Amino acid sequence: MLRTIFSAALVVAGSCAYDTLVKFDGAPIQENRTIEAIYHAALEEGGIVTCWHGGDETNQQDGLKEAFETRFPGMTLNITVDVSKYHDGNIDRQLSTGGLYVDSIILQTLQDYPRWDQEGALLHYAPLNFDNTHPAFRDIRAAWYGVSIFAWTFISNNDRLSEGPREFADFLKPEFKDKLVLTYPNDDDAVLYAFDLIMQEFGYEWFEKLLQQNPRWVRGTGTPLTLLNATNSTIAATFTAGMGLSSSETLNVTIPTKGSFVTWPQRAAIFKDAPHPESAKLLHNFMLSYEHQNSTGSWSVLKNVPAPAGYPGIMDVPSTNPVEFERFMGDRVRVERLKLFFEDKIGTPQGLSPLIDDL
Ligand SMILES: *[C@@H]1O[C@H](CO)[C@@H](O)[C@H](O)[C@H]1NC(C)=O
Ligand SMILES: *[C@@H]1O[C@H](CO)[C@@H](O)[C@H](O)[C@H]1NC(C)=O
Ligand SMILES: *[C@@H]1O[C@H](CO)[C@@H](O)[C@H](O)[C@H]1NC(C)=O
Ligand SMILES: *[C@@H]1O[C@H](CO)[C@@H](O)[C@H](O)[C@H]1NC(C)=O
Ligand SMILES: *[C@@H]1O[C@H](CO)[C@@H](O)[C@H](O)[C@H]1NC(C)=O
Ligand SMILES: *[C@@H]1O[C@H](CO)[C@@H](O)[C@H](O)[C@H]1NC(C)=O
Repeated sequence: MLRTIFSAALVVAGSCAYDTLVKFDGAPIQENRTIEAIYHAALEEGGIVTCWHGGDETNQQDGLKEAFETRFPGMTLNITVDVSKYHDGNIDRQLSTGGLYVDSIILQTLQDYPRWDQEGALLHYAPLNFDNTHPAFRDIRAAWYGVSIFAWTFISNNDRLSEGPREFADFLKPEFKDKLVLTYPNDDDAVLYAFDLIMQEFGYEWFEKLLQQNPRWVRGTGTPLTLLNATNSTIAATFTAGMGLSSSETLNVTIPTKGSFVTWPQRAAIFKDAPHPESAKLLHNFMLSYEHQNSTGSWSVLKNVPAPAGYPGIMDVPSTNPVEFERFMGDRVRVERLKLFFEDKIGTPQGLSPLIDDL
């Protein structure tokens, strides 16, 4: 009896506790309104969307918030950045206790999305432009889809080097000694994947030589940029950060041609029980819109948006495969074994969470 009441409560709360496979109700809602009509519905709903976004500096999505709120006056993007591996556990708790208050979730932990969908937690909803995303970046029933391409490129401050790195082998040059900043691979799975790719290609020796360069290990992938850019630092290069494909005045961005560097489509979904579904839809339609996709300074998840000048399309870069990251992330036993291997070599990640470490 108690069990029946408990199950009924779960159904009322909407978070389905069962495998939904043979329910056979997977067809997505295809958005067919204009973005202005969605905007209107979002304002009527209250004009706020709560989004949790993966990242490692609190201000990393300030640009998205500003662009969205400027494009849609009256809307508030209530966005919280934290590392995806912390966000996802807190989402699981919201889902399992019935207190879901997040509408939209945009994370690096790609493996969570098929699971959440199997649990019946995700809205099957295809925004405008969904069909223009690369098929490999989206779920066939629109439970989730990539919204932006993340990449760990080579970033250097060339005022502190005679020549920036062009290939992974360059990081072993004497000139780079004491000048490298790298994110702990045993703290961020996408960085772990970079080390996996590099060392499968160039061998364990490459890593031994890298350690001899005395790199500075940090938490978060935003911190390397901060140190590279700081005027009082001598740090000169990294391969564990991303800032799009355009070099800035101080920082030079390049990609290698030998071996593989990491790229992936950051994945987005709306919860079936999102408290602000129309506002979440507006956000996702905006993120997949041409105006937004053309403005990122990086590759687009849309097939028909050209890559930034000088770069081939994301599916045509020989030294990366943006589709493979999901497979890496899905094998949690392999990930765990790699993490412990690096923990033994460089120690546990030191310092506070990158969100609060002032770096
Ligand atoms: C638009 O989509 C809604 C929801 O899927 C559907 O009910 C409606 O019939 C569609 N309208 C048109 C004109 O296709
Ligand atoms: C904004 O997001 C925070 C963190 O997710 C949440 O605690 C807060 O309730 C949200 N605010 C509103 C007005 O929904
Ligand atoms: C950026 O680095 C590449 C590779 O070392 C080099 O060819 C290019 O000249 C650099 N650009 C600047 C502005 O330093
Ligand atoms: C680097 O510092 C300059 C000046 O402080 C700032 O304008 C720029 O946004 C910074 N760039 C990065 C990538 O942090
Ligand atoms: C560099 O400047 C930053 C910001 O002003 C400061 O927090 C940091 O301690 C300085 N680092 C060194 C090595 O002087
Ligand atoms: C963005 O790119 C697409 C595809 O190249 C193009 O059709 C569209 O006009 C561009 N839109 C904006 C707002 O730049």
